[in-house]
Amino acid sequence: MKQFLLAPSILSADFARLGEDTAKALAAGGDVVHFDVMDNHYVPNLTMGPMVLKALRDYGITAPIDVHLMVKPVDSLIPQFAEAGASFITFHPEASEHIDRSLQLIKEYGCKAGLVFNPATPLSYLDYVMDKLDIILLMSVNPGFGGQSFIPGTLDKLREARKRIDESGYDIRLEVDGGVKVDNIAEIAAAGADMFVAGSAIFGQSDYKKVINDMRNELEK
Ligand code: DX5
Ligand code: ZN
Repeated sequence: MKQFLLAPSILSADFARLGEDTAKALAAGGDVVHFDVMDNHYVPNLTMGPMVLKALRDYGITAPIDVHLMVKPVDSLIPQFAEAGASFITFHPEASEHIDRSLQLIKEYGCKAGLVFNPATPLSYLDYVMDKLDIILLMSVNPGFGGQSFIPGTLDKLREARKRIDESGYDIRLEVDGGVKVDNIAEIAAAGADMFVAGSAIFGQSDYKKVINDMRNELEK
């Protein structure tokens, strides 16, 4: 697998032409589709469910789909998203009554599993589950909306998460979500991230390929 993965967040895509716009972001060089699920309960916004994910698969999207669950409760949606075609499923630990059980459920359904940390959620949730994780996702904004600014304190937290991953010896991706742009992606990578969600930075421009190429060039510097 690539050293760095770019995950366009389709939260900022054109929902009236979602299949087409998603395919366009992948053709422009996106590696993974980031799929934000919001429930108007855990976060104050409402987005997409498993039917929309299934529709993307039926449309012909074959790239990995990274389902970011911003929902409470968590477990009832895991089988539905897995059956709809999710590749990765991540959830916020404080939204699950039984974190270990939720992680196991994701694995039982054949998906890769991860935990998501809000800016003020402590990394201590990692303590007893490192062996069950494929991804750690650090939010660099408060979840709920695209187009917010990157919270600088995330850089220290990324360094801490990178250290934990390296010390654990497990093969775990370190993903960052929120406010990632061409002008800060290099600094975010230097802090230890290797998977980058970008919504408004990509879909807010007419030339997706240029943004994605610019991001890759920054990562190669
Ligand atoms: C926010 C979502 C993000 C969002 C990022 O709650 O989890 O994935 O789409 O959007 P940008 O890249 O615009 O900050
Ligand atoms: Zn997200």
